[in-house]
This record gives sequence, structure tokens and C-alpha cells, in this order.
Amino acid sequence: MSSRYIYLDYNATTPLRAEVRDIMVKALDIYGNASSMHELGRTARAEIEAARANVAALIDAKNPSNLYFTSGGSESNNTVFNTMFLLGRTRERRKIITTSIEHPCVLNAAAHLKEEGFEVVFLNVDDRGRVDMDQYRRALGPDVLLVSVMAANNEIGTIEDLHEIARLAKEVGAFVHTDATQAVGKIPVSVDDWDVDYCTLSCHKIYGPKGIGALYVRANAPIEPLIRGGHQEDGVRAGTYNNLGIIGFGEAARLAALELNEYAAHTSSLRNLLRDLIIKRIPSVRINGDPDNLLPNTLNVSFPGAEGESILLSLDLEGIEVSTGSACASGSLDPSHVLMAIGLGPELAHGSIRFSLGKYSTEDEIRYVGEKLPPIIARLRKMSTVPFEKIASARS
Ligand SMILES: Cc1ncc(COP(=O)(O)O)c(C=O)c1O
Repeated sequence: MSSRYIYLDYNATTPLRAEVRDIMVKALDIYGNASSMHELGRTARAEIEAARANVAALIDAKNPSNLYFTSGGSESNNTVFNTMFLLGRTRERRKIITTSIEHPCVLNAAAHLKEEGFEVVFLNVDDRGRVDMDQYRRALGPDVLLVSVMAANNEIGTIEDLHEIARLAKEVGAFVHTDATQAVGKIPVSVDDWDVDYCTLSCHKIYGPKGIGALYVRANAPIEPLIRGGHQEDGVRAGTYNNLGIIGFGEAARLAALELNEYAAHTSSLRNLLRDLIIKRIPSVRINGDPDNLLPNTLNVSFPGAEGESILLSLDLEGIEVSTGSACASGSLDPSHVLMAIGLGPELAHGSIRFSLGKYSTEDEIRYVGEKLPPIIARLRKMSTVPFEKIASARS
């Protein structure tokens, strides 16, 4: 076992930052039920509303009351798709457009609607992971109920052109949803500039606690509860308020907004250093994602002739934690649906690693990875039966 510990899996989740932890420790005593009218309840309510304002500010939502707290990104996304399911039963519009590279919680929610008789289009993306806009334009029409496109991809970091996607959707009167779980806290997010009706966010990607997220819903856009019960969150999401999670979320969001530029500069310079070290020291690698529209912290690399899980485990022995594709897809033997969608064959897709950097990454850590990785790849390639040059040139 290595004495070093280098975490490069920030897109899977982030550590709780000290400032958020401090606020949460104090919040442990804010036990009032925010729905109660007495003072304890009012105290909790005030904290929750302050947190809501901070989270709203992070996505440039002018009215914090358009933001509903949920248990995370998966619930927020499912709430939107469930709303469309209920709406679609009484409307002519029963077509959903999404992409083939969404997070599984969107893909599976969309697949469920398909089973229920909706027409669902999973748009292709190009070799950089950008939506095929010609196919998108062709799919649009008066029958489209919802367009749901992620703001940035969790595996390869590609940022989509939400502004243009939403503009075209609005021309045909469709609602627009974006899963901004990976974008928030990394790049500027503005629900108004993008002109989206729904926006999903999750707290554990921005150095806050897990199990808390939010859904932005534009005024007048329809929304139906996934969880019915009390009147919390204007009846959109029942259940006693998660004071601790919400207060932590508020602080994480406040700090993320303050530090957005600093975060992008820090992570992108280290990410570029890692990319350059890999390219310089390891032959025949492929860098995935769109270099012109890329999350500042994400680097996805294919190492033909080396198997991803073996790379991951070898790095783990050196104290370096990375991922093969998304955390949610790990455990599955299937190649990443995102890497397949950008045109990698199964072998290349299986030989890919996501390095996702964060606030606490350091140059020393990146240089350490730059030292440890090349011999690992060389050793695994030697063990491979197919020469890596052959795999590198074989794209599906
Ligand atoms: C793009 C994207 N959407 C949704 C989710 C799910 O969010 P949560 O873990 O809060 O349910 C994730 C988390 O991995 C994600 O990366």
C-alpha cells in the first residue's frame, strides 16, 4: 500500500469542505421543524430560506422561490420526467428529446416514458460529445413536450450549447430541462441566459453533503410532486425539511459562487499539466471530450492496449483514486455508454480513465501521477495480446 493518498475522482463526489462542515455542526442543533409556526420552527425556516437564496444565486435564478429542495440530482431529474409523464397523458405532445450521453437517472427515466408509449429520441453526439444539432433540428416539431440535455457531461466533461438548444426548443413550444449537476460550481450557470424551464443540481458535487439537491422550476412551468404528502416546498416535494443538508447546501453554494473563477483557473491549469505529462510520457493516447467546451477539471483519456479497471487498481495501489467512466456505471461490465456514443470501440472504451480534479488537487499530486502512470500503462500494454497501436487505430 502507498503512503500517499491522491483523490482525482471529484466528478463522482467531493469531500465536505471545512467551512460547510462547521456550519453543519452548528446546524445540528437547529432541530425545529421549519413548518412549525413557533420560534424554533421559524428559526429553522429562516435558515432554509437563506440557503435557498444562496443556491438560487449560484444558478442566477432571480426568484429563490422557484427552487425546490430534493434529495439530489437523481430525484430532481425524475421529478421532471414524472411531470412530463403526467402531462403527456392528456396532451397531444408526447415526444421527448434527450441525448445518448445523459446520466443513467435521465436515460432510465426517459426509457420508462418510452415504455409508457411516449416517443423518445436519444440524440447522437459527435466525436467530442457535442449534440448532433442537425438531428436535433429534424427531431423538433409541434409534438415535442420536453427537451432534456445535460449542461456538462460527467464522464468526458463536454459542455453543451444549452443556449442554442433551448432557443430552438422554445420555437416549437417545448419545455426545456437541463441536468446541470456537473456544471454547477465549475462553470457559470444562468437559468435565465440559457432560458431553461427546469434545472437540476446536486450538493455533493460542490463540497457539500450528500443526499441533498434542488430543482429549479421557472414560474408557470408545470411541476408535479414525485413524493406526495405535506405541503412542504409548496406541495412540490413533501417530507420534513432536511435542515442539516439544506443549510450545508446553502453554504457550499455561497462559497462555490464566490470562488468560481479561482476554481476554474486552479483546476484547468493542473488538468492541462496532467494532460501534457500524459501525452509527453505515454505513446498513443487519446484525449476524449471537446477541448473547446470542456469542464475545467475533467480529463478523460483512452490508453489503447491497457484495460481500464487494471489501470484503476494499479493506480489505487499507488494511492491514486480515479475512475473508469462514471461512478454510477462502475460495477457494470458494459463499456461506458458515453465513450461508445463518441465513437470509441469497446476496447478503447474499456481502456479509458477519467481523472477529475478539484479544489484540493495540487501540482505535487499531479506530478506524482505523471511519474506513476507511464510504467503502469507500459506494464499492462506488455501483457495485452493485441498491440496497442492496432487498438488505437481501430475506431468503431
Ligand atoms: C450528470 C449527473 N446527473 C445526476 C447525478 C446524480 O446526482 P445524485 O447523486 O445527487 O443523485 C450525477 C451524479 O453522479 C451526475 O453526474
